[in-house]
Amino acid sequence: MAILENEQPRSAEERLEAFEEMLCRTNIDPDEEIRLVQDNADAIFTWDYGKGRREKLDKLYEKAKRSQWNATTDLDWNARIEVEQVASEMNNNDYRGQYVARLMEAEGSPISNWGDKEWAEYSVESFSWRISQFMHGEQGALLATAKIVETVPWIDAKYYAATQVIDEARHVEVFARYLQENLPHEYAVNHHLQDLLEDIISDSRWDITYLGMQIMVEGLALAAFGSMHRATAEPLLKNLLRYVMSDEARHVAFGVISLEEYYQELTTAELRERQEFAHDAAERMQGRFLQQEVWDRMGVDVRAMSRVFLQQDPAENIFQQMLFSKIVPNCKKLGLLDAGDGYLRGAFTDMGVIQYEDHATTDDEYGTLDEVAKDREVV
Ligand SMILES: [Fe+2]
Ligand SMILES: [Fe+2]
Repeated sequence: MAILENEQPRSAEERLEAFEEMLCRTNIDPDEEIRLVQDNADAIFTWDYGKGRREKLDKLYEKAKRSQWNATTDLDWNARIEVEQVASEMNNNDYRGQYVARLMEAEGSPISNWGDKEWAEYSVESFSWRISQFMHGEQGALLATAKIVETVPWIDAKYYAATQVIDEARHVEVFARYLQENLPHEYAVNHHLQDLLEDIISDSRWDITYLGMQIMVEGLALAAFGSMHRATAEPLLKNLLRYVMSDEARHVAFGVISLEEYYQELTTAELRERQEFAHDAAERMQGRFLQQEVWDRMGVDVRAMSRVFLQQDPAENIFQQMLFSKIVPNCKKLGLLDAGDGYLRGAFTDMGVIQYEDHATTDDEYGTLDEVAKDREVV
């Protein structure tokens, strides 16, 4: 993996140990109630109120205003959910479940003796963990987008970002409610996700908020929501995810449209900093696929699981690859894959995800997802 290449002077064994050390970290303070993060940015007024000067952003803003929904009234919260059944079905149908089933069979796996009981327990824990991390990630998006309203210098982008703030509030609301009403307990934020969100919020450069949140985190979220949507037949969750995905597609498109313009002005050296940021974000996201807190809670040795995870060939991890299916083409559209010496192309090749480079970009695709959401299943 690319993180290992940055540490060339060390032996292969030491580099593997360092990566394993990073991988097996879990949340160190699950009882924390609030967290302070410096946002280090200037708030920017603009006196140029010319709405529509950036046509694509203006179109997106108009679409966002038409596509608002109400989490309280547009979803049927009264349905009873059989959580074990929903969790088990999801695990059997989803790439993540299939991947963990393979980890069970791997040599030295600490879960090789699992039977149906453990598997059923894992399914519910994994489900709770995923919805919890969605909820925490959504709060990260809420804060990041509020920051963009302040820091982006263009009025059309401030207008659009303001619509995203209410979208993200609604997303936190729906995942929190689903979790509280249907799942046994909430997981604290994953260590790797928290690190990434803090990197995004604390950076002083306005475009890095976009790159970290709209391109990387939301690009991955869009793929993850799509995967869960395909894997479940539970009507409330399915419907909720469809609504959220239609918003998320606009959010990723917002990042692509804004950065495509801005990155044309940057030097090769400045683009290199963005390539490195994207690479680092990708590795942090890869770090959380392991669901460290689930293993910890179930009494499974997290370090042993990290070791088994590391022994797997990334090229065969369809689950992990699929999550990058939106990120890679969008980075290409921004010119980040091949700028300079093609640093990011190399990094994505090492991660086994470069095959997505010619998939649809989200600024082309968001209209389709939005149309899907209009076909409401439950009203
Ligand atoms: Fe969101
Ligand atoms: Fe979003």
